[in-house]
Amino acid sequence: MRTTLIAANWKMNLGTPSAAVEFVGRTRHPLSEIEGVEVVICPPFTALAAVEETLRGTRLRVGAKNAHSQAKGAFTGDVSAPMLAGLCTHVILGHSERRAGGSLDETDEAIRRKVEAALANGLVPILCVGENLTQNEAGETSTIVGGQVRTALADLSAEQTRGCVIAYEPIWAIGTGKAATPADANLTVALAIRGTLAEQFDEPTAQSVRVLYGGSVTVENIADFMAMPDLDGALVGGASLKDDFPELVRRAANAKSG
Ligand code: PGA
Repeated sequence: MRTTLIAANWKMNLGTPSAAVEFVGRTRHPLSEIEGVEVVICPPFTALAAVEETLRGTRLRVGAKNAHSQAKGAFTGDVSAPMLAGLCTHVILGHSERRAGGSLDETDEAIRRKVEAALANGLVPILCVGENLTQNEAGETSTIVGGQVRTALADLSAEQTRGCVIAYEPIWAIGTGKAATPADANLTVALAIRGTLAEQFDEPTAQSVRVLYGGSVTVENIADFMAMPDLDGALVGGASLKDDFPELVRRAANAKSG
């Protein structure tokens, strides 16, 4: 059984401790009452400590949105996995906004090293993969997504891989209001992600890794995504900053239990 997971990707928003605490202070009670779903809130680094303190003792978890692959050293402006380990339990890695072609230049190889650093420090990596519009239109989705998964997990054991979460986020669907259809997302996850995991590791590993969908998830469409058998949750950007985020999580939980 794969427990449903909803991760809130705040991106570069609510980054002051006061704004972040105000938001989680308002939503933590309704969120904690929802059974059968894990919730991970991922604020900017500057608000991690404050959010962690506000959520301590609840079932809600905290995640970061990047980690350097080295533990320490001359990397001005970076934050490492061991620095995050006391502050959060999860870390989003390889988001398309950080990858080559996004606003930064992270390669598959760099992301692989970050995944390993996260696992070595007890953090659950939420590895993001996804194709851009040109690749999608050229019918390359499976090749691109499968390749991203394969490279990022290349040096891991099956057991380590089972400790990872993968988020399938078609780039053209992120922040555009044009979500993938649930059926298309499910197919890509089944074929390109679980299929790759089965080849690279084994079928039990392919079936035990949790895979999220991300890209214009809303309170209105979450139930349709969660009705899909291969989608185990969602990575939610814009809609995670809204007051009805607990309602989105409740609909996800209901869709999975119903
Ligand atoms: P969105 O972002 O929900 O605003 O489309 C998702 C993401 O980038 O993780």
